[in-house]
Amino acid sequence: MDIAVIILAAGQGTRMKSRLPKVLHPLCGRPMLHTVLETASLLSPKHIVAVIGPDMENVAASVREACPDAVCVVQLRQLGTADAVQAALPQLAGFSGPIVILYGDTPLIRPETVQAMLEMIQVKDCAVTVLGFTPHDPAEYGRLVAEEGGELSAIVEFREASAEERRISLCNSGVMAIKGGLLPELLKGVDNHNAKGEYYLTDIIAIAKRNNQSCRFVEAEEEEVLGINSRQQLAAATHVAQKRLRLQAMENGATLIDPETVTFCFDTKLGRDVTIHPYVVFGTKVQVEEGVEIKSFSHIEGAVIGAGSLIGPFARLRTGSVIGKAAKVGNFVEIKNSHLGEGSKVNHLSYIGDADIGSKSNIGAGTITCNYDGFHKYRTTIGKDTLIGSNSSLIAPLTIGDGVIVGAGSVITANITDNALSISRAEQVNLEGKGEEIRKRKGKR
Ligand code: UD1
Ligand code: CA
Repeated sequence: MDIAVIILAAGQGTRMKSRLPKVLHPLCGRPMLHTVLETASLLSPKHIVAVIGPDMENVAASVREACPDAVCVVQLRQLGTADAVQAALPQLAGFSGPIVILYGDTPLIRPETVQAMLEMIQVKDCAVTVLGFTPHDPAEYGRLVAEEGGELSAIVEFREASAEERRISLCNSGVMAIKGGLLPELLKGVDNHNAKGEYYLTDIIAIAKRNNQSCRFVEAEEEEVLGINSRQQLAAATHVAQKRLRLQAMENGATLIDPETVTFCFDTKLGRDVTIHPYVVFGTKVQVEEGVEIKSFSHIEGAVIGAGSLIGPFARLRTGSVIGKAAKVGNFVEIKNSHLGEGSKVNHLSYIGDADIGSKSNIGAGTITCNYDGFHKYRTTIGKDTLIGSNSSLIAPLTIGDGVIVGAGSVITANITDNALSISRAEQVNLEGKGEEIRKRKGKR
């Protein structure tokens, strides 16, 4: 059955106190709106319409980026949720399937939950299903006025609710599913004669009831319908989303020694038997292959880590890092836009940027690829089975061959051919007795 999804996202979100529209604030590495678009897409709808405010070209661009099939419509003035839905309707002219309403600022809804709402429309033949929840603190949410047997008779907004209605603990999440073809007619009955002077979408329940149509609700956990209006709520939603990502990682066969301390992104990919120690942070676009161990306090983004590698503790992998199988990246090592070959090691205190390193090479402690001359970036190429002595500076552009040995403390500026030994440092001078002579002269000991 074809469905359509309307996503309400016209609110600026003043309580975020931000220049960025609320729905573009990131949640686990992507705008919260992208999460909602993904949920919508997972329902395989025929149409997705996002309702945005004027001057939100950045939101429209973000929608296009995440979901090219979605259409954005601008609601010129924010006259209420029913008006926002009305603004989307012209895009759905001729469409007669069920319509789902999601909010751009309520990103944790699971597709299964929406599916259950759509099923209820079919099974119980009702006009509208509403996603309800029983919050810890019902605060100013709209209240669901339910009858025996699960029928809904109305949604009462907090401002209009009587003292008795305010005692109802079952609240409106805002998510609704409306039976095919009914929405335009129901919206016609909505007026703005209420405390806020807004067109309330919630009024369509009472309107449907007056038409002798059935309305019902499905209940969700509070954390699934968490709406984001403030930075505190963004943090609370992040907490829930992270919890889900950690569970998913463990279900797929990763060991998290202390899950609560690991931060994932929505797109982190972990192979089987990956072990993640406490306090590891993943940015976007990370792929970790089987059997990798990532030790504490490592920060990883835009990297592919080959099977069986050992990363950290205190490693930083930046965008464009490709770590070969069974490689080692140790403490206080930063790698950027570089390829580290199979079985190679960079174990201590190094910066590897814009480099290609072959297999089984060993980069000694404190090695720096000097990739930037203040104007441009240059690459360093190092072959296989090569040993770079500790504390070497490799001045790019530079090519070092296979089987090379570079003496510790070298400053390498010229290319090195295969199997050479290269040392570049001032010759050591030992002056016999000079130490004692100086001490005497300075009058000490
Ligand atoms: C709404 C519900 C309330 C529910 C609560 C859950 C109505 C009348 N009330 O109240 O029952 O408990 O959500 O969070 O629907 N929006 C637009 N254009 C508008 C107005 C709103 O796009 O003209 C969007 C907002 O950006 C937001 C969503 O619709 O994403 C909800 O609007 P908001 O004003 O936050 O509704 P509430 O008063 O919280
Ligand atoms: Ca709200």
